[in-house]
Amino acid sequence: MDFKKLIADALEEKAGIPSKELQEMIEIPPKKEMGDFAFPCFKLARVLRKAPPMIASELKDTVTMPDFVKQVQVEGGYLNFFISPEKRAAAVLTEINEAGEKYGASSLGDGKTVCIDYSSINIAKRCHIGHLTTTVLGASLANIHRFLGYEVVSINHLGDWGTQFGKMLCAFKHWGNKEDVEAKGVNALIELYVRFEKEADEDMQTEARAWFKKIEDDDPEAIELFSWFKDITLKDVAEIYDLLNIKFDSYAGESFYKDKCGAVVDELKAKNMLEFSEGAYVVKLDEFDMPPCILLKSDGASIYATRDLAAAFYRKKTYDFDKCLYVVAYQQNLHFKQVFKVVELMGYPWAKDLVHVPFGMVSYEGQTLSTRKGHVVYLDEVLHRAIDKARDIVEEKNPNLENKEQVAKQVGIGAVIFYDLFSGKIKDVDFWWDRALNFEGETGPYVQYAHTRCCSVLAKAPELDANKADFAALSDDASCELIACLEAFPQIVLDAAEKYEPSIITRYCASLAQNYNKFYFDNRILGEEEGVMQARLLVTKCTRDVIKTALGLLGIDAPEKM
Ligand code: ARG
Repeated sequence: MDFKKLIADALEEKAGIPSKELQEMIEIPPKKEMGDFAFPCFKLARVLRKAPPMIASELKDTVTMPDFVKQVQVEGGYLNFFISPEKRAAAVLTEINEAGEKYGASSLGDGKTVCIDYSSINIAKRCHIGHLTTTVLGASLANIHRFLGYEVVSINHLGDWGTQFGKMLCAFKHWGNKEDVEAKGVNALIELYVRFEKEADEDMQTEARAWFKKIEDDDPEAIELFSWFKDITLKDVAEIYDLLNIKFDSYAGESFYKDKCGAVVDELKAKNMLEFSEGAYVVKLDEFDMPPCILLKSDGASIYATRDLAAAFYRKKTYDFDKCLYVVAYQQNLHFKQVFKVVELMGYPWAKDLVHVPFGMVSYEGQTLSTRKGHVVYLDEVLHRAIDKARDIVEEKNPNLENKEQVAKQVGIGAVIFYDLFSGKIKDVDFWWDRALNFEGETGPYVQYAHTRCCSVLAKAPELDANKADFAALSDDASCELIACLEAFPQIVLDAAEKYEPSIITRYCASLAQNYNKFYFDNRILGEEEGVMQARLLVTKCTRDVIKTALGLLGIDAPEKM
């Protein structure tokens, strides 16, 4: 139930302001003693030419309030509303009970499409913890948008273009063998590349350039080998995506746009936007305090930005997106500002719908990530260690659990995702093994545990019958706080979507779990008189559903037992 709206509706006539505007003016007071909602009368003072406290008391005397308003108080220029906890509990819990795991979902995005470019890995490289955030953040934004009714297109914009692939092909032709690559996967490709950089002489360098040219020109042998390198990389990363339960609708990467850059470049030329400057073709952006956006090398070859431009046009044409999000670290802030600006200057108003969602850098136990110095942690290793640890704990605490392996996965993966999505996205994160694998305090397993607690209460109890619930039994502080927390969920989801900030949901999960635990320790459930027990069971069921939904939006499973 939307209390704010109903209060605004009641005030509408006497205040002489439309309910919609009133709703925006109604505040949630900072202190409980000031009520559950407050309406400041200061704005009305100018129109009505009366002092705010006087307006407040006139409104109080003349407006008939909905019956869930227990008391109205005038304080200074404010009208403070106190909601009956019983009515509030009834309204909130009935709504959640009916909606179940759909509570908080909406049709806001109906008929709208959002493209989300995330994870976007590079071919022939192994995923390390630097790729964790784009992957889980992007996946969560995809879940959140779907929940709000949007059509979501998840795109893995593969880094599969560049002269290094010519080198890799050349190295493979000289030193590689098929079985070795099949067996060792991406590692074998990396070894070939490293060896090339160490040992290749002038002749091989020339050959490598020729191989790259062959990829550009669609030479069958080059394309076959190159596609195979791609498959090898994708097969490696598929295990990670499987563990994280992530799927992409498109793997159209940079190479997909090789025949689509020309049209964009032609259009830029036709619009007189392309200039030759310092050995490259660029769009000058001095006016906007940005360095030029480089689009073609002197030999006419496209670069990263050209392919991103082509991709933006392709996506607009193919998906007619309402928004296109790029979940990429903030090091690429300038790149996206430039690309988006070029689209705008080309005269496309939808340039405003291209949104870079930046996030902070990852370091490793206080040091910058560096493959060369060995300061690197691979993503599959993180996930497996988390699962191993979860398995040990389950084995120790609940050796008779049926689906131990599945639970270990859910808990281990849950811990890592929760850890990554807990801080605001723009903050740089320092990866520490003991923090990522921490299962106590504000962590994924702690929230999952609260969910299992709800499940176990419901499993032990007689059948839930919401009609028998005595809502007056939910007037104690712990119950009120838990119910307020449940009530807030739909708004939490909207905030997270608007700010592209799943951490709002992560933190919410932690506080919901905490609130439930407090409720659970303060209140007896089983063995209470029927009405009281049913009311408490109902809160428990609603909490279970909201935790499950909220974790799901983060990409975390909620096991029933652990
Ligand atoms: N592969 C790139 C990298 O690892 C990220 C690509 C992001 N997406 C894009 N459309 N540019 O840095």
